Amino acid sequence: MTQTYNLLILPGDGIGPEVMGQVVRVIDWFRDNRGLDFRVEQDLVGGAAYDAHGKPLSDETMARAQAADAVLLGAVGGPKYDVLDFSVKPERGLLRLRKEMDLFANLRPAQCFDALADFSSLKPEIVAGLDILIVRELTSGVYFGEPRGIHADDNNPENEGGRVGINTQRYTSGEIRRVARSAFELARRRGNKVCSMEKANVMESGILWREEVQWVHDNEYPDVELSHMYADNGAMQLVRNPRQFDVIVTDNLFGDILSDAAAMLTGSLGMLPSASLGAVMANGRPKALYEPVHGSAPDIAGQGKANPIACILSFAMALRYSFDQGQAADDLEAAVQRVLAKGVRTADLMGPEGGTPVSTAGMGDEILAELSAGA
Ligand code: IPM
Ligand code: MG
Repeated sequence: MTQTYNLLILPGDGIGPEVMGQVVRVIDWFRDNRGLDFRVEQDLVGGAAYDAHGKPLSDETMARAQAADAVLLGAVGGPKYDVLDFSVKPERGLLRLRKEMDLFANLRPAQCFDALADFSSLKPEIVAGLDILIVRELTSGVYFGEPRGIHADDNNPENEGGRVGINTQRYTSGEIRRVARSAFELARRRGNKVCSMEKANVMESGILWREEVQWVHDNEYPDVELSHMYADNGAMQLVRNPRQFDVIVTDNLFGDILSDAAAMLTGSLGMLPSASLGAVMANGRPKALYEPVHGSAPDIAGQGKANPIACILSFAMALRYSFDQGQAADDLEAAVQRVLAKGVRTADLMGPEGGTPVSTAGMGDEILAELSAGA
């Protein structure tokens, strides 16, 4: 019996719709050429949803996301929305999806494509062949901890300005254990090494983090090599010698920062996909949302300049992690590699050595042609 794959596509804002347009073509290719039965629905998120409904994610869209086998998201945000109240900013739509779908494990691979090693701000010999995976906890920590807010700082006459801003870093042992398990499972399928990062030298939540990751290791994954690092040292090691890492597991805020640093090691943010995974559902698939690491890039939106590769590789992650179509994912990734090796370049990838310049859709054409050639 053919399986049906229900996808909800949320293109979002800025370059989101353009890059997602190329993903839709790739999905159609797999339907037509590999008989994969994708059913695709589209909806609004972020500023686009705010413009339509006054909220960055409607309850109807949230319900459709919960019902989908996987959600593909483009990007959210733009200067037009900077003036909005915090509670309806485009980012709140994304954070609501992560929280309500309970997508606790955010996988951010940072892989350096051979053809692009010169693009890194580091020397090519330091980044060539780089392949690390950051597993960022995504549904807890300081992003969601209570209490939070901005309050009048009553009874403190010495506080010039009279206000206090509060956020709370809070982790339960269960939250740490489940994301640690994801990291160890993924490490077993790669280099079998996990480095856990926190600030156990200054934060109690960091001490708990370290102890719980060690507990999961000792009790369930003693075969995987585990090390611990303070997150500031981790940031330094990432730019000093990034290839020492295989899988890095860390909390929500450190993961946000460290994954941007790791992304830049590879030279172009326009290349990096991500997957956010939750608990496995009754049908055996995890709750899942896939999105490029890059943002909405409002400065180039609507001009056909955006690089669709990060979004296309995010769909490859969906093939692998949601639909168990590892071969299809490999084929799609290989097609992207071949296009880059041929020197085909969107504007963000155009270096001094030149190349064949293409638009967003032109990159889509090339990737589809390589898929067909390899099929
Ligand atoms: C990310 C982004 C988001 C985050 C923003 C857009 C809320 O920076 O996905 O890394 O901070 O998590
Ligand atoms: Mg970020």
